[in-house]
Amino acid sequence: MNISKLICLLSFVIRLSNAANVTFTNPILPGFNPDPSCIFVKEWDNTFFCTTSSFLTFPSTPLWASKDLIHWKHASYAINRGDQLPELYRNSQLQTEGTWASTLRYRDGTFYLITSYVSWHDGWGPIILLLTSTDPYDDASWTGPIRFENPEKEIDPDLFWDDDGKVYMGVARGIFLHQVDLSTGKVLETFTVWNGTGDRNPEGPHLYNKDGYYYLGIGEGGTETNHSAVISRSRSISGPYEGYENNPVLTAKDTDAFFQTVGHTDYFQDAAGNWWCVALATRSGPDWEIYPMGRETVLSPMTWDEGGWPIIDPIQGTMSGPLPTENKYVPGDGFWVHEGDEEDFEPGTQIPRQFLFWRPPKESLFEISPAGHPNSLQVLPSRVNLTADSQFEPLEEGMGFISRKQSSSVFRFTVDLEFNPKDADEEAGATVFLTQYQHIDVSIINTRSCSSGELEQRLRFRPEALGKPGVEVPPTRTITTPQAWVGKPIRFTITLDESQTYNFTVAPADRPEEEIWMGSASADIVSGGSGPFHGTLLGVFATSNGGTGKTAAYFSRWRYRPLKQEVEAGTFLPIKE
Ligand SMILES: *[C@@H]1O[C@H](CO)[C@@H](O)[C@H](O)[C@H]1NC(C)=O
Ligand SMILES: *[C@@H]1O[C@H](CO)[C@@H](O)[C@H](O)[C@H]1NC(C)=O
Ligand SMILES: *[C@@H]1O[C@H](CO)[C@@H](O)[C@H](O)[C@H]1NC(C)=O
Ligand SMILES: *[C@@H]1O[C@H](CO)[C@@H](O)[C@H](O)[C@H]1NC(C)=O
Ligand SMILES: *[C@@H]1O[C@H](CO)[C@@H](O)[C@H](O)[C@H]1NC(C)=O
Repeated sequence: MNISKLICLLSFVIRLSNAANVTFTNPILPGFNPDPSCIFVKEWDNTFFCTTSSFLTFPSTPLWASKDLIHWKHASYAINRGDQLPELYRNSQLQTEGTWASTLRYRDGTFYLITSYVSWHDGWGPIILLLTSTDPYDDASWTGPIRFENPEKEIDPDLFWDDDGKVYMGVARGIFLHQVDLSTGKVLETFTVWNGTGDRNPEGPHLYNKDGYYYLGIGEGGTETNHSAVISRSRSISGPYEGYENNPVLTAKDTDAFFQTVGHTDYFQDAAGNWWCVALATRSGPDWEIYPMGRETVLSPMTWDEGGWPIIDPIQGTMSGPLPTENKYVPGDGFWVHEGDEEDFEPGTQIPRQFLFWRPPKESLFEISPAGHPNSLQVLPSRVNLTADSQFEPLEEGMGFISRKQSSSVFRFTVDLEFNPKDADEEAGATVFLTQYQHIDVSIINTRSCSSGELEQRLRFRPEALGKPGVEVPPTRTITTPQAWVGKPIRFTITLDESQTYNFTVAPADRPEEEIWMGSASADIVSGGSGPFHGTLLGVFATSNGGTGKTAAYFSRWRYRPLKQEVEAGTFLPIKE
């Protein structure tokens, strides 16, 4: 080799190792966004796509898109029609039911999303579902699901195409590989491949083909503070798989990191060949007590040399890596995950894309700008309130509840409500909702006065903590609605401050300075408990509380302002508008 060639090669090597690192903050998908699975798709204009778990929320199984790994825009929901998965309508008393961890892959022009619907309705029996799309920005393009055979009643399906054209579905727990027929969902052959390092719950498998090895990445230890990511490899797809001697490759177990429960990883390469790891994490610190947004998606750079094992930087709030150039050109009519809402429900518009229901909705309960009420979202009362009951029939009765995810550590949410209840116990208001058994509500409610026996419109603050026995709960507080406010729109404001205390106030919509404090509650009440896999939703509701009332509630001027993200314990970064 001559000198000039050597210099050329050297400068190339230097250039590679000097890839400009830029700073970014975690989480990249803040709020209730666990179990990420992500891909890079060159054919779709060099775009990264991720999916995260949605449990009982609907539309389900969201797709996110980004050109730079930092700015993420909602692309579509793979399960967006109630009849795709009628089981989601079940009145599961268990709030952890619904669609669990999915895998997203792209092959020959088609996006594949494989997931499982989990329920204890007829005993343990997760249903594995495959959805496909040829346009990730269009809900209507998602077809399926095809229901797969699931001989071991397993969860966390993965999809992998081998070089010989065979397709494998990995599943947990204890990792099985099934050779499958994608068009029918039939299992053709089964191997048990690797059970991890011996910790409990080997799950969330993803298989990769690299440098002549099959690498199998999994999570273990459970999705709590013992969670970790481990890896093994084999020359043959059916094994034997050899575990990496320095496992785990990523964990926050036994550390005092602010980002805890780190695990459930997926690995992918960008256009420049850099490797990236996504994982779930909980911003709780090792105390793991207050984490209303639950498990969120984080990003970390990784190196994965030829023939070697992956090396992943431990998850932190502020990290740096060789990110693609900033690029916010992502098509579609989606919303950005970091942005807030300014919704005025103008006539002719649809329910905003970021709005979620708890199970598929009874659509007739919700209407934008109904006759006589322009610029409002009408919610008709359901018999059940947010806690519901065992007789509740989600498909027939529906739940008068609509929400969006809480996406930041400090925020301000306000919404105006016009509601003139006629019957006893009719109620409408705003809520911080984790599950049916953990929510904090502020509302207008019609109650019978003890002294006069007359119906009286009152304002109520009421935390519900059935799902977390033992947690300290502030008392319910009810006041008589000031006479001058009755019959006019009332503004509800919910804030969360750095001390992780939610604050609830009410005011006449046209005189916000007359604000009255209704109550405060620690975010402890909506962390874990009956929603161990979930994160909080901010929403509005209308109910007859078991009565016969039919009075509609009209919500308007919906404003959600994410203000700060906590990136280290006690360190809050402002969110740029
Ligand atoms: C960039 O970040 C990667 C991943 O953390 C690291 O391996 C590499 O050394 C960094 N490069 C520079 C030039 O700092
Ligand atoms: C994993 O565990 C299951 C049962 O717990 C066992 O049947 C299987 O053989 C194990 N697989 C491997 C590869 O060790
Ligand atoms: C974590 O692991 C330790 C040691 O095995 C165990 O004592 C502890 O209960 C586990 N914690 C959780 C949350 O699973
Ligand atoms: C809650 O709101 C009231 C009324 O605006 C205010 O006086 C109080 O300081 C707030 N408390 C917190 C914890 O933000
Ligand atoms: C919800 O409704 C039931 C009656 O259906 C009632 O017993 C319960 O107290 C209500 N919960 C709230 C928060 O009002």
